[in-house]
Amino acid sequence: MSRSKVTLAGVELKNPVIPASGTFGYGREYEKFYPLSRLGGISVKGTTETLRTGNLPPRIAETPSGMLNSVGLQNPGIDHFIAEELPYLKTKDIAVIANMAGRDIEGYRVIAEKLDSTDVDMIEVNISCPNVKAGGAAFGVSCEGAAAVTKAVRAATKKPVMVKLSPNVTNIADIARAVEAEGADAVSLINTLLGMRIDIRTRRPVLRNNVGGLSGPAVFPVAVRMVWQVANAVKIPVCGMGGISTWQDAVEMMMAGATAVQVGAAIFNDPYAPVKIAEGIERYCEDNGIADISEIVGSVEPW
Ligand SMILES: Cc1cc2nc3c(=O)[nH]c(=O)nc-3n(C[C@H](O)[C@H](O)[C@H](O)COP(=O)(O)O)c2cc1C
Repeated sequence: MSRSKVTLAGVELKNPVIPASGTFGYGREYEKFYPLSRLGGISVKGTTETLRTGNLPPRIAETPSGMLNSVGLQNPGIDHFIAEELPYLKTKDIAVIANMAGRDIEGYRVIAEKLDSTDVDMIEVNISCPNVKAGGAAFGVSCEGAAAVTKAVRAATKKPVMVKLSPNVTNIADIARAVEAEGADAVSLINTLLGMRIDIRTRRPVLRNNVGGLSGPAVFPVAVRMVWQVANAVKIPVCGMGGISTWQDAVEMMMAGATAVQVGAAIFNDPYAPVKIAEGIERYCEDNGIADISEIVGSVEPW
């Protein structure tokens, strides 16, 4: 898999494919299907300062070409992650990206400081979760909030910092510029788009949280557009995601400007999706005489 090796904010990935946060747990269930080392990296379930049980069910619903979720950052907390999950992942020959979210700026700082003294390869700062009341998207929807979180995390760690952006904004390129200015090493996008469905028999929203995040193939064109806009607005690398379910989608996302890609909802359909996408990218390189997949990053030629 040498043609599809990439470097994302200084971190070497043996291929550009990373299961997206919240769709792959800590990889344990998927190790039963294939060795995690076949993937470039893993973005783990979002970690918070303390254990969270998440929102009440129902919190997942299928939609045309996608899904709505309002899981609400259910996770065992940062100390558990560092003690129990990270040592396991570090035996798997895969780049470990610690996705995290704070309740407030101080929360982000505390988690970043704890992660700084571990051997995680990168920190992904979620400022875009639509499913929690405090933190999350509250910071990701303004340049000031996004900058403040990035500044606090940057001061707390020397690890590569990748800030995960919300699509629920008027101008995502402005937010990307704001986090770049505060020292982010990369940005990832998109998180889920805020959505809602109603059961017409009960007149109740299908999710107990009323609203939730839309992901899956339905959001792919939105994600491609945003990755393209952000890649043209900043110098730091972009990790692209949102609706990728085939290797062709991944190549398209890279042409829009993504150095690496994350795959989320597609995994619920097919646990092998990330591996198939990684193998497809390598085959695409071989078939098209591409020695290094990085050659195609941002290679779209706009009209
Ligand atoms: C069930 C579920 C849980 C998620 N949990 C997180 C999370 O903890 N942290 C985060 O940054 N993104 C989370 N996301 C967002 C995904 O990482 C990704 O940004 C989004 O789903 C778009 O990609 P996709 O269309 O390939 O799923 C979650 C998505 C889903 C579907």
